[in-house]
Amino acid sequence: MTFDNRVVWITGASSGIGEALARGLLQQGALVILSGRRAEALQALAALAPQRCLVLPFETTDYAALAGLVEQAWAWQGHIDCLVNNAGISQRSLALDTRFEVYRQLMEVDYLAPVALTQALLPRMTARGSGQLAVVSSVAGKVGAPLRTGYCGAKHAVIGYFEALRAEVEQAHGISVSVILPGSVRTGVATNALGGAGQRRGRSDVNIDNGMPAEEAA
Ligand SMILES: NC(=O)c1ccc[n+]([C@@H]2O[C@H](COP(=O)([O-])OP(=O)(O)OC[C@H]3O[C@@H](n4cnc5c(N)ncnc54)[C@H](OP(=O)(O)O)[C@@H]3O)[C@@H](O)[C@H]2O)c1
Repeated sequence: MTFDNRVVWITGASSGIGEALARGLLQQGALVILSGRRAEALQALAALAPQRCLVLPFETTDYAALAGLVEQAWAWQGHIDCLVNNAGISQRSLALDTRFEVYRQLMEVDYLAPVALTQALLPRMTARGSGQLAVVSSVAGKVGAPLRTGYCGAKHAVIGYFEALRAEVEQAHGISVSVILPGSVRTGVATNALGGAGQRRGRSDVNIDNGMPAEEAA
């Protein structure tokens, strides 16, 4: 597959897998829309190829902003070939120690946000009759893992939405749907994970530190 001049929108491009994916796609000639909350990190990445990047920072759960963001992203090159719903947040806390608000936040970021962005973009892709929608779920979307009851729930849910969507849009509208389930990848995911009270964990763990490099995952 060649990515020459393909327009790819990546959420969570400010670090980890999303950043590595953006770097790899830029090397292969893609035009990349970089999203995440940290505008400075996205701008630093865009400096690699300023003519081929659009920096579009946003909080993925700011649903009211999505229509305007999709408009801006689409207008940049007049179309979008591929959306990679990669932004996400993990969890490291026992169910016994986890507040309900943490479950709500994990569902918002890891399930509802990719659904909302995909729903906002989908009508343009179907009208064009082509496009690729991707989501980064996790092995935790297929099997239960301790300290991740909320993360596993949300990552299972997002697989359900995208697999059902594929059944609706692949044949009927020429839109392909890719569901990606990484195992452990060496990124800040464990450090950025939520604890039981919603706090940032602030330290990594051995599984992640021994995981595959983000470039390889990308
Ligand atoms: N690393 C692994 O072992 C592993 C395994 C399986 C699946 N995954 C999945 O891979 C994806 C990428 O994670 P990673 O490992 O690269 O971790 P990471 O380095 O922590 O990256 C997470 C990315 O998501 C963005 N993000 C998080 N919450 C956001 C929000 N509310 N609004 C906007 N952007 C948000 C972050 O951007 P800002 O900080 O700029 O907001 C960051 O760019 C996630 O969906 C994760 O669940 C990772």
